[in-house]
Amino acid sequence: MIAEKSVQEILDTAKVEDVVQEFVNLKRRGSNLIGLCPFHSEKTPSFAVSPSKNIYKCFGCDRGGNAVNFLMEHEQMSFPEALRYLAKKYGIELEETGDTDEAREQRQYFESLYLLNQFARDFYQEQLFETDRGKSVALHYFKDRGFREETIKKFGLGYAPNQKNAFTQKAISLGYDIELLRKLGLTSKYDRDFFRDRVMFAIHNLSGKVIGFGGRILNKDIKAPKYINTPETEVYTKSRVLYGAYFAKQSIRRQDECILVEGYTDVLSLHQAGIENVVASSGTSLTQEQIGLIKRYSDNIKILYDGDYAGTKAALRGLDLVLAQGLNVSVVMLPEGEDPDSYLQSLGAKAFKAYIDQEAKDFILFKADLLLKDASGDPVKKAHAIKDIVSSIARIPDPLKRSLFIKECARVVDVEEQLLVNETNKVVSQELRKRQRQDQRQNRRDTPETSTPTVPEAETKAHQQKALPGESPKNTGDEFQEKDIVRILVSGGDKIFDAEEEITVAQFILGNLEDVFNEFDNQMYQRIVQECRQLLLHGKPINFAHFANHPEEKIQQLAINLNTTPVEYSHNWEKKWDIFLQMQKMPDENFYEDALYSVRRFRQRKIERLLRENRQKIKEAAVRGDEEEVNDRMKAHQRLQQVRNELAAQLGTIIYS
Ligand code: CTP
Ligand code: MN
Repeated sequence: MIAEKSVQEILDTAKVEDVVQEFVNLKRRGSNLIGLCPFHSEKTPSFAVSPSKNIYKCFGCDRGGNAVNFLMEHEQMSFPEALRYLAKKYGIELEETGDTDEAREQRQYFESLYLLNQFARDFYQEQLFETDRGKSVALHYFKDRGFREETIKKFGLGYAPNQKNAFTQKAISLGYDIELLRKLGLTSKYDRDFFRDRVMFAIHNLSGKVIGFGGRILNKDIKAPKYINTPETEVYTKSRVLYGAYFAKQSIRRQDECILVEGYTDVLSLHQAGIENVVASSGTSLTQEQIGLIKRYSDNIKILYDGDYAGTKAALRGLDLVLAQGLNVSVVMLPEGEDPDSYLQSLGAKAFKAYIDQEAKDFILFKADLLLKDASGDPVKKAHAIKDIVSSIARIPDPLKRSLFIKECARVVDVEEQLLVNETNKVVSQELRKRQRQDQRQNRRDTPETSTPTVPEAETKAHQQKALPGESPKNTGDEFQEKDIVRILVSGGDKIFDAEEEITVAQFILGNLEDVFNEFDNQMYQRIVQECRQLLLHGKPINFAHFANHPEEKIQQLAINLNTTPVEYSHNWEKKWDIFLQMQKMPDENFYEDALYSVRRFRQRKIERLLRENRQKIKEAAVRGDEEEVNDRMKAHQRLQQVRNELAAQLGTIIYS
């Protein structure tokens, strides 16, 4: 664990604009920097970075946060990864606490595995560029295939020499552990090099670390597999890897599309031609984990199949899995005998791009086409084909999308739409029942006593997206006033409210809320106000940085939203008190009035409520004949009324003068 002290130091030091600018082009506009949002696709910039607030915020897709959040969102780093990245960038020494010896050892062990793989990559690269055979054979081979030197370097290509154990010996002479070499699949049981006389493709994980290699044979006459790959190791699990993902992820997000090809060389060629959102499945059909990986960056996938009819038909089956994940799949079939690499090299980049744009067909229609061609004139085959297509359609989680596909397919297949609808519904309900049974079994295992209905993940997600962070679902009408108080505290509780009396905004606000302190309807707002009071009691700062870096994500997001939303309208603007429309961000020099005003309006609402409640209590006490209580409450009533009248007068002068 990274010590809290170090976390704080990193958060204090890291400049959000430095970090964002490593990944996004920003232009200065006023006190902000703006650019195209890296999290959603857009043509006009709505992504803003505020150096003074040390946060970023997109007004299009609503994402916002600090430097750490940016790295987590954009680079898919974990929290500790992001902290380590920033510590390195700013030269901050990390203090670790609570780390068990075991955890530390484990981390060091994995670090040494990555280091050794990196050493291997460097070795193969040196062989490629610095040795005679490397240059004359391997480098020549790459260049002959049209790969430029910058591409070769970027992707960490290399050459494994044609010797028994040149690599292993070199590694051992430098003090690397033979056990680790074996564990990484670089050295065989008998201490021979695993890769010999092959051109090498380094395989990276999502953070760019080398986790394995693919080696391609050079000599066509030798009877050996064209490629051999690193066997499964502690850092390389084939089913979880997409070749090229590290170099593609940003572009996939920006284009909101992932292009999937089969081979290493296809990735290289396309990338080199400026099509960077490309990854390879390395010759196998997509796994669930690989789909999950793509889904982090985009819901759209375009598959470029090698021009090999039989192969394609087989590959189609695996794709129902992709549909079930809710991805939109389109496919491009290349001409017989071509793969993306060869076809691009023969057409040139421009014509190739035009080709894939033109030829891209939605997966289901593509499948329908292909199966029908197969079945032409054979009614039995056609019936099978329809079943097959229907079972694909049924996997699509979105019912709207499903019905659109049914319409299209009915046209392509030339059958009644209703027939397809019925067939699809059958499969959908079969699947549903199957899932329910599974869920029930699961439930019985997990919670023998209670059975809670399970909500499909897609639905919970949609639901979560609708609710704003921290916004309470029930709206009592005081939301706007509560929000205002919290906005001011969060944005600048530490600002001087009154220089002569030496009190801060937070002191003023909290001091004036004592009698209505627990009256917040929104629980998030209540918690923030409580936290402010604690901070104040302990003499700790109450400022935006505190909340923008808050460890609780909900509070952090709420704070950022409150601090960056440019226009606020009262929910009850038609009511007299609330005609106030706040047309711009809180002007820094205006916080005095802002705080004063908001506190008064908040108190007004809450005092009104207390009056109502009190009145009700008086009635009840009177009915019970509890004179003492009636008396007490009458006094309270007078006090409240007095406060209300004062407030009304104050607000009246401010609003209408
Ligand atoms: N592959 C493999 N083992 C093999 C053949 C292929 O692992 N014996 C994987 C490799 O990842 C390869 C991919 O399947 O990149 C696609 O195979 P193929 O199309 O035959 O290779 P290309 O990448 O097109 O290589 P080249 O252009 O050099 O023929
Ligand atoms: Mn190929």
